[in-house]
Amino acid sequence: MTISNVLPSAFLATVVAASVFGGSRMSAQRPLAVPPLRAAMFVADSAKLYTEAQAVEGAKVWTATCSGCHESKDVTSADFKTKWVGRSLFELYEQIRTTMPDDAPGTLTPEQYLTSVTYILKLNGLPAGETALVSDSATMSTLKFELPAPPPTSPLVP
Ligand code: HEC
Repeated sequence: MTISNVLPSAFLATVVAASVFGGSRMSAQRPLAVPPLRAAMFVADSAKLYTEAQAVEGAKVWTATCSGCHESKDVTSADFKTKWVGRSLFELYEQIRTTMPDDAPGTLTPEQYLTSVTYILKLNGLPAGETALVSDSATMSTLKFELPAPPPTSPLVP
């Protein structure tokens, strides 16, 4: 690729990011095909933040309670990622715990809220591991919702 091919597309991506996100904190988290921004949004080696057993329980909560109002794309869409990637798992947990189910916030057990968060991680392609996510605010505050690295698809990314 010559420099004359690279520059206009990089420029365009920057203009799009600036116009859509107003140059706010969000612009650093967009999944644009520009290496520095990709690096900010994806981590190469995903931390294993939850166990498969937790995600299985979370899937039950999702089916029994959340799926009455939500499709899984509600928690995997580009809009959702833009809003949540880079934020802590505690913020996501608290958002769900204090506002969901929309018609009866706070009515699930802490364990049900916790496992629904792990199911959301799973839906977003994050891998399960040996260590369970614990509903401890201090620990969850240190853990960030970050996406696994996708296979390279853009010609701008080697
Ligand atoms: C009675 C309907 C209803 C149920 C049941 C429900 N939700 Fe929601 N949920 C909504 C609505 C409406 C919104 C968007 C408005 C808002 O944010 O309050 C929303 C928003 C959300 C968001 C924020 C999405 C975003 O883009 O930031 C998350 C996460 C979420 N719900 C998770 C859950 C989970 C997990 C459950 C099950 C434990 C659940 N919801 C159950 C109606 C519901």
